[in-house]
Amino acid sequence: MNRLALVIFPAICLLTGSAAHAAASNPGPRSAGPRPAEARKIIIDTDPGTDDALAILLALNSPELQVAAITVVPGNVTAEQGLKNALRLVSLAGRCDIPVAGGAQHPLAQKLITAELWHGMNGLADVELPAPKCQADARFGPDLIVELVHKYPHQITLVPVGPLTNVALALSKDPSIAGLAKEVVMMGGSISGGNATAAAEANVYGDPEAASIVFNAGWPLTMVGLDVGDRTLFTRAHLDKLRQTRGPENDFAAGVLDFIIALAEKYGWPGTPMYDPLAVGVAIDRTLVTTEPMRVDVETRGELTRGETVANRHNTVERNVPHGDRLRIEGLDEVKPNARVSVAVQAERFLEMFTSRIAGK
Ligand code: BDR
Ligand code: CA
Repeated sequence: MNRLALVIFPAICLLTGSAAHAAASNPGPRSAGPRPAEARKIIIDTDPGTDDALAILLALNSPELQVAAITVVPGNVTAEQGLKNALRLVSLAGRCDIPVAGGAQHPLAQKLITAELWHGMNGLADVELPAPKCQADARFGPDLIVELVHKYPHQITLVPVGPLTNVALALSKDPSIAGLAKEVVMMGGSISGGNATAAAEANVYGDPEAASIVFNAGWPLTMVGLDVGDRTLFTRAHLDKLRQTRGPENDFAAGVLDFIIALAEKYGWPGTPMYDPLAVGVAIDRTLVTTEPMRVDVETRGELTRGETVANRHNTVERNVPHGDRLRIEGLDEVKPNARVSVAVQAERFLEMFTSRIAGK
């Protein structure tokens, strides 16, 4: 489960924390952490989306990261709604300095599948944020990715947390970015069954052809999939803790979390999985997950398995050699891993990281 079901949630009073209130409850500037000059540059490619919104707020409140751009991809909501949402989020955080660019309008080779059912009609848990103060960047999202990767060679970490359409378009326009980006930390895929279908995770299912391009690009790629995301359940106990502090971002996040926890509970889960925030968490601190190198291919043709990330756990395939009217296995051929697949997560440490960084903001 965990693309969460729609419930009508009472309108949440946002921005009740005035600036004065926020200042009073905010413990003050963070003392630890890298200075901005040392922060890792990331581009978040996103389909905001409830958990996307939480991921963006986590990134914006993490001194280890410098968000160089946010590019918007259709997925949870349409491209148009996603752009509005991204602009509302950077406005909420007072970060109009971050370029926010629209991108693709639809997946590469299939119809767009939107998920208002799980994210609310506005994609943000039906929590209404004020009209954005920040303006959209005029550049096309995939072009902006290419431009920034060239401007900061070997420095940009791409953090895609939606369908991979924009990243695939960027690669198709300029394959050299595969050698110039520092790495990719993506939310998507699964090696233990799907949430969109029995086999496929939603982001990969949303654009399997794009995902295939991204997995095969030959760059360092960390997959933060359902295998670990499903273990990061943000529960009512975590929410009670977050509600002890106040501030515009804090209160917005609490409203979103209330909505998605209610959906999770409706489907028998004790909390809501923090899929996209975990990908940002891994960009901040990769010791949050344990990874294993694997060869991952995306199924694009299977009748029941389209969108499945098919992972080779041993990185070998049997070599079948013709013998008369049959084939005989005569050894193993190695296949080269193309991804670090997250297989374990320090969930409570991550949830504490999330809560402490949003608290009072
Ligand atoms: C992914 O699908 C979307 O609904 C979420 O935002 C997340 O990126 C989880 O499968
Ligand atoms: Ca997402």
